[in-house]
Amino acid sequence: EARLAPGSLGLPLIHFDEIDSTNLEARRQAEAGAPHGACLVAEHQSAGRGRLDRRWQAPKGSALLFSLILRPSLGLRRVFALNNLISLAVCRALQKHGGVDAAIKWPNDVYLEGKKLAGVLTEFTSRAEAVEYAVVGVGLNVNQDAQWLAGLDQPAMSLAAATGHAWNRATLLAQILGEMSALHEEFMAGGGEELAREYARRSLILGLEVTVREGQAVRRGKAVGFAPEGALLLEEEGGKVSPIHHGDVSLLDW
Ligand code: BTN
Repeated sequence: EARLAPGSLGLPLIHFDEIDSTNLEARRQAEAGAPHGACLVAEHQSAGRGRLDRRWQAPKGSALLFSLILRPSLGLRRVFALNNLISLAVCRALQKHGGVDAAIKWPNDVYLEGKKLAGVLTEFTSRAEAVEYAVVGVGLNVNQDAQWLAGLDQPAMSLAAATGHAWNRATLLAQILGEMSALHEEFMAGGGEELAREYARRSLILGLEVTVREGQAVRRGKAVGFAPEGALLLEEEGGKVSPIHHGDVSLLDW
């Protein structure tokens, strides 16, 4: 059922038939004073954006495209935890309500059957070392068919292609927002360590040798864990473990 619990994130919920990008619109609305929890959802984006300057595309009315405005009292060091929370919210919702067991490819791609199911683009502004607002944008492949997915430049999956039936996007949105509300509260109440463990259980790269691009540098090592604030713990040659924060980082190989 597409209903938000009282006090849940996702209110006000603003729907667009078409918009350039829900993340761009959320930033405009946040600048104009939109409250914590506001959510923008679109049937179609003419300029959907992905991480690392990529585009994000989906046929009209098929994917779940939304951006959530958050105004958490968070220092900059912990802002990337929001990425982990939203990826976990998507996984929890799919598991609980759809019996779908998705995984997370650090920092925040959601994978199903070894292919990308959802992407997350988090953007934030800060003032005096604290987050002013964050925009958490999610693009989840829901009802795209296999033929359309095959035309993308990386292996992609949709819920419909994986399960053989169409999904109701409004219901899914309400479920994801409900999970995100719970996770956000858990995190703010000091549950970061436990959530990092849940994240690790969902991780596709835990225990694997990975290559990470961090700005100009390329680092290689073993993914040995995740810190509560979202950093990847990378064990490099010699056994030294260091946190890799996912500001401008991408996984090259895993
Ligand atoms: C990625 O995988 O690179 C992140 C993709 C994020 C796409 C979503 S769709 C809704 C929101 N609006 C955007 O323009 N981007 C995000």
